[in-house]
Amino acid sequence: MPIIYFDEIDSTNSYLKREYRGLADRTVVYAKHQTAGKGRLGRTWLDDGSSLTFSILLKDRLDEKRASLLPLLVGASVYNAFLAYGVKSSIKWPNDVLIDGRKCTGILLEAVTEKKLEALIIGIGINVNNIDFPEDIKKKATSLRLVTGKEINREELLQTCLDKFDELYSGYLDKDDSFMKIVKDNSYLDGKDITLNYYGENRKCKVMSIAEDGRLEVLENGKVDYLSSGEVTLTKNY
Ligand code: BTN
Repeated sequence: MPIIYFDEIDSTNSYLKREYRGLADRTVVYAKHQTAGKGRLGRTWLDDGSSLTFSILLKDRLDEKRASLLPLLVGASVYNAFLAYGVKSSIKWPNDVLIDGRKCTGILLEAVTEKKLEALIIGIGINVNNIDFPEDIKKKATSLRLVTGKEINREELLQTCLDKFDELYSGYLDKDDSFMKIVKDNSYLDGKDITLNYYGENRKCKVMSIAEDGRLEVLENGKVDYLSSGEVTLTKNY
């Protein structure tokens, strides 16, 4: 996977959105520091220079129907990368990787559509050497440094993540969704009572599991339902 390096950029996702036309499938953009990092739901991804921030461009063999599986596939890749550092994590549907119940990684999938789907951009932010967080997220966030007690080389971790991604993504293209076993076996929300927002309506349910097609299987008033990530937002942090 070709890698473009920046010391500083606004956002690696925004860069790929501007430049994707001239770049090859699976190009990676890595920045040591982002000045306008984007999170999901219009949030920002704050970066004091200690996190690992990169984006992957996908242009070939895009399958719109299976695109919502990609954040889970990336979650499984990060899970495998963390294991290589001796760290056990869990995957919080649909877009986060947690360690000890605290967020360590956020994933932002963006689609570029003109007349058809032209590209998918997957942005990944990993808290690596952070030793402190802003007051509002202090209790909910962690970093690899805080968990392992060691400073970690970000470029080495990037390469590990890319190797793990490449392996799982090649399977995904061949319709081998074995990454889903990693996702299902390490799903953070399983068994939890959650509140979510579904098209403006608040619903309380119990999470059963993550289904093979990537939807969240929930139990609500004794009835099973399957929810897709585009339809719901979790309204509380768990
Ligand atoms: C989230 O948890 O809300 C998703 C965070 C995604 C952050 C990454 S950092 C690299 C890439 N570039 C961005 O601007 N955002 C993503």
